[in-house]
Formats: sequence, structure tokens, C-alpha cells
Amino acid sequence: MISFSSVSKRYENGHQALANLSFDVDEGELVFLTGHSGAGKSTLMKLIMLIERASAGQVVIAGRNLNRMRRGQIPYHRRQVGVVFQNHQLLFDRSVYENVALPLNIAGFQSREVGRRVRAALDKVGLLDREKANPITLSGGEQQRVGIARAVVNKPPLLLADEPTGNLDPELSAEIMNLFRRFNSFGVTVMIASHDIALIRSLNHRVISLAKGQLAHDGLLPQEQGG
Ligand SMILES: Nc1ncnc2c1ncn2[C@@H]1O[C@H](COP(=O)(O)OP(=O)(O)OP(=O)(O)O)[C@@H](O)[C@H]1O
Ligand SMILES: [Mg+2]
Repeated sequence: MISFSSVSKRYENGHQALANLSFDVDEGELVFLTGHSGAGKSTLMKLIMLIERASAGQVVIAGRNLNRMRRGQIPYHRRQVGVVFQNHQLLFDRSVYENVALPLNIAGFQSREVGRRVRAALDKVGLLDREKANPITLSGGEQQRVGIARAVVNKPPLLLADEPTGNLDPELSAEIMNLFRRFNSFGVTVMIASHDIALIRSLNHRVISLAKGQLAHDGLLPQEQGG
């Protein structure tokens, strides 16, 4: 689903954010992406979204070689990748329903189909009864779940989350992670960038760690002795 071959990213100011990075993520995997602040996690996700382009090497997503992708193909590509951000980027002048419906309206779905899909997505994150609410009246965890519903409403085969639990307490973080695991159990490939090593360790999935833009670790984390 995700294939990076000797990928480097140098920003215009000369900063080398990723260096000679190679890894593959198969369809149906759930992978955590970790590393210090500035290690290149968000940059890696921006390459997958085609918000940035690699300076060298090759990125292939679901068989699509992003190096060769033309401008006109980018909207289709982006609809195939759901994205969740830390600061969820909800619109506070619209209802929960309208926020989740946004990608479908942009894609030109008819309103009946929009309604069906929005309610299915809100149901999956446990917020069906809040569709008319303004997101500003929801808790941080609930707002993040609206962001997740919006990311999955197109039923993308690949879901990226960049620090999705960064603002949440441990209990809510665990709840959000369980939501991602549930999507993964239905076959969605999931990549989650996170600093929360304790939480990541407790979930025992594959971990890709970056250090200064290079691959530092790829695999399960060793479990702590004792406990
Ligand atoms: N648009 C840009 N122009 C120049 N340098 C950038 C740009 N975006 C990011 N960088 C630099 O590239 C490096 C990697 O940034 P990135 O945002 O990918 O790190 P990160 O691992 O996501 O960090 P954090 O955990 O703080 O979110 C950092 O040193 C950052 O300053
Ligand atoms: Mg980041």
C-alpha cells in the first residue's frame, strides 16, 4: 500500500528532512510512526498526501507512482487517503454533520448518498446523536472523533493520522487508538504518527522510528521486562 524507496526530502531552504528512507507497508497493516520532534514524521505523511514531493527516490501508494502523478490526478489520489490531524481542523461555523459531509460535497455526491455516508461514519465513531451539534460544544475527544469520521467518510483504503491524540488525556488517547484499530480490523491500512511511546508499546504493533530523517527502527518494540 505504501512503498518508499531511497526517499529523500530537502526543503527549499536546504533543510534535509528525510534521507534515503526505504520501507514498505502492506495493505491491511497498522503501523506507528515515531521519532523526536523534527525527525520527519509529518514530512513523510505530506509526501504520501502529495502536499510535498520527494527530492529523490520513489514513493508508490496503492500502485500509484507519485513521482509521475500529474496535477489532474492529485484530487483522486487525495480522496483515497483519509487524514486526521492533531488540531482536527473542524469548522466551527458548521454542524458536526456538515463538517463530516464536506469531503463528499466537494467530491460531488448527491445529498441522499451524503446523508447515508455521513451517518454511517458518525455511527462508527459513536457520535450519531450529535450530528446537529456545533463542534465547539463537544469535548476535545469528541471533536477528534468528528475529525476521524470526516477522514473515513470517503471510505479510503489508507488512513493517516498525524499526532491524533496529542491534545488528549491518556484515557481518551487509548479510546481514539482503539477506534483506529477497529478501522484497521475492517481492512483499512493505518499509519499513526505519535510521540506516546508508552501507549504505542502497550498496543504492540509495528513501529517505524525516524531519527533526523533516517530510519532508526522498523518492527515491534521490545516489551519492557518485569511488568
Ligand atoms: N516547509 C518547510 N520548510 C523548511 N523546513 C521544513 C518545512 N517543514 C518542515 N521542515 C523541517 O523539516 C524537519 C522535519 O519536520 P517534520 O514536521 O516532518 O517533523 P516531525 O517529525 O513531524 O516533528 P514534530 O514531532 O515536531 O511534529 C524539521 O527540522 C522542520 O523544521
Ligand atoms: Mg509533525
